Amino acid sequence: MKNKRESPASDGTTAQPRLHQRAAEIQAYGTVNHLLPLELEETVRLEMTAQLNQLLADTMTLRDLYKKSHWQVAGPTFYQLHLLFDKHFDEQVELVDSIAERIQLLGGISIAMAHDVAEMTRIERPPRGREAVPVQLSRLLDAHQVIIGQVRKLARRAGELGDDGTNDLVVSEVLRRNELQAWFLSEHLVDAPLVHAEPVHAK
Ligand SMILES: [Fe+2]
Repeated sequence: MKNKRESPASDGTTAQPRLHQRAAEIQAYGTVNHLLPLELEETVRLEMTAQLNQLLADTMTLRDLYKKSHWQVAGPTFYQLHLLFDKHFDEQVELVDSIAERIQLLGGISIAMAHDVAEMTRIERPPRGREAVPVQLSRLLDAHQVIIGQVRKLARRAGELGDDGTNDLVVSEVLRRNELQAWFLSEHLVDAPLVHAEPVHAK
């Protein structure tokens, strides 16, 4: 029996939402749109979007490593590191968006979901449990090193291929931000005295 509550209009339109829909993708991952007024060859855009997706996977992983560190940090430096880790997290969030949208504007498809990120990233997986501050800092610095190394190669390649927009993004935003964050972290691993300075012995 027909449900009277639906009461569709004569042209078939109805106020009922069409739920649980699935359909074929409209663009496959790993492809780029053909027709874009960017004056960049399809082969260039294919290579750049592939490399940018690797950078995206690693940046999303570093972003999440910062939140893990923000939540789980312990010890006498809790307050300053809790705040610093969240500041860096916020900055990595912005980088993630810039990289992902660069991929899309080049006609490609950005990875987005945690499953895909986990499969792609080259950053070492940390344990679920809590680690001491020096280990947290070391893991974050190792992750920055992975990203900084890749960004330098990507920037040179983008320059060679004439993709100046990608070159500018990865140098001006990604490289510089990662270098700065790595500096802020590494200064916390200097074993400088907090209370007692070593006295200088007279000869
Ligand atoms: Fe928080």
